[in-house]
Amino acid sequence: MTEYRPLRQLPEPSAYKTGDVLVLVGELFGRGYANGLVDEARRVGMTIIGTTVGRRDTDGTLRPLTVEEREQAEILLGGKIVNIPLEAGFDLESVDGVPSIAEQLKKARPDDYASISFIEGSVENARQAGTTRLRSHLAELEKELIQLIPPGANVLVAHAMAGGIPRVRVFMPLLNRIFKGTGEKYLASELFWNSPLGQLCDSSFNEVTADTFRYLIEETTALRERTTASGGRICYSAYGYHGTEVLVNGSYQWQSYTPYVQGFAKMRLEDIAAEATSRGIPATVYNCPEIQTNSSALFLGVEISLYPLLGAIRREAGEENAAHLEACCQAMLKEGESIASLLERADRYLSSPLLAEIVDFSTWPQHNTREQAELMLASSAELMDMHQDQKQLICAELSRIVFLTTGRIMLHSAWNPPASTVWLNHDILARLLADELGAGILCQKGTV
Ligand SMILES: NC(=O)c1ccc[n+]([C@@H]2O[C@H](COP(=O)([O-])OP(=O)(O)OC[C@H]3O[C@@H](n4cnc5c(N)ncnc54)[C@H](O)[C@@H]3O)[C@@H](O)[C@H]2O)c1
Repeated sequence: MTEYRPLRQLPEPSAYKTGDVLVLVGELFGRGYANGLVDEARRVGMTIIGTTVGRRDTDGTLRPLTVEEREQAEILLGGKIVNIPLEAGFDLESVDGVPSIAEQLKKARPDDYASISFIEGSVENARQAGTTRLRSHLAELEKELIQLIPPGANVLVAHAMAGGIPRVRVFMPLLNRIFKGTGEKYLASELFWNSPLGQLCDSSFNEVTADTFRYLIEETTALRERTTASGGRICYSAYGYHGTEVLVNGSYQWQSYTPYVQGFAKMRLEDIAAEATSRGIPATVYNCPEIQTNSSALFLGVEISLYPLLGAIRREAGEENAAHLEACCQAMLKEGESIASLLERADRYLSSPLLAEIVDFSTWPQHNTREQAELMLASSAELMDMHQDQKQLICAELSRIVFLTTGRIMLHSAWNPPASTVWLNHDILARLLADELGAGILCQKGTV
């Protein structure tokens, strides 16, 4: 069990400079966490090298990006993309003519989730085939990196990968019931998790979200040796999630989105970082706050704990910065609604006795209960409804602030990390906004 280590002090500026390299392992999406790291790396003059997960052709073949796709991705990244498909997972792997997991589940009906079975040994064989494919692609990536990165340059290898929901129709209705269902539609995450389909997800999340970090560290051994031998420093970072401390009822308190079933894989990721660190490889998992990205869209209600960031900014970043941001957020609310009522509504959920009964650090991650799911989803809907326009949400603005502040802290902290896993909570992120450089993050969009 990882010790709870929140970062309480802003890191010293790292020695990263022009000519050093950020390698992003995972793709960059417009509102994803990795934008913060890329932004900070660019600010300090680092070269950015990106990767791709590749694309699937209609016949299921995994391929690199086309010329156009690569061009688009390189424009978004502001750097070169190494065009080797790094998709992780095993849902589409067919071994020795045995149908893939996706193929086996093609006709599965959601109602039968508890009794579905797989051809004996096929899940394990597919998993091994997926691992072998990814490892060989990572080995090719390493060769390219050795060519691209000048000897002596410092390197930060940033892992952003997470996912693993098998690409089969049967999962979406079930996951929607777990994460968004109330009344008749509610499904207990624990029932699902203990079923054959839940256990498949467990294995797949471990492979994509956690074990990719191990494979990455292992398959870049030669790059590591070359970097160190030529006087450079190489460090690894990964994004974790293990709850976040946010302002609840006026003081900072650890809380978590429930039911975060991916949490088992996230703890495995922490173990991988600890193991690498113990072997002298600087590898750090940064446990980050809940924000809205492509990957978190399924977890309705995950955004509730983001609203109190406004309170943290008021507390840590000074009146002027807070007033500026609050005015910009107030403008997104319906007439008659206020930031104070929004914060009060979020706080009512986060401080509810029902949640206190369930959420616990030492036994995390918790499964949902019907009452908790209904309270969370109703709170989420009420908070959304306070907005004028459902496409202009305060949480989108707060998410941007979180990924930018997170990236800035991660890049510098990763140079000399205090532990193999650290938590970036609302307090430290808000504190970064206190100075002029940080305040620039609040004003980037010039919304007010
Ligand atoms: N969104 C949140 O609330 C939150 C909170 C804490 C940590 N994180 C973590 O931040 C990281 C980035 O996620 P994000 O929320 O910014 O979303 P995102 O959708 O922008 O990023 C997800 C990443 O996972 C990669 N990926 C997805 N499926 C993959 C597969 N099968 N094989 C290999 N790579 C795959 C994508 O290429 C992308 O780089 C993840 O590790 C995520 O768990 C997110």
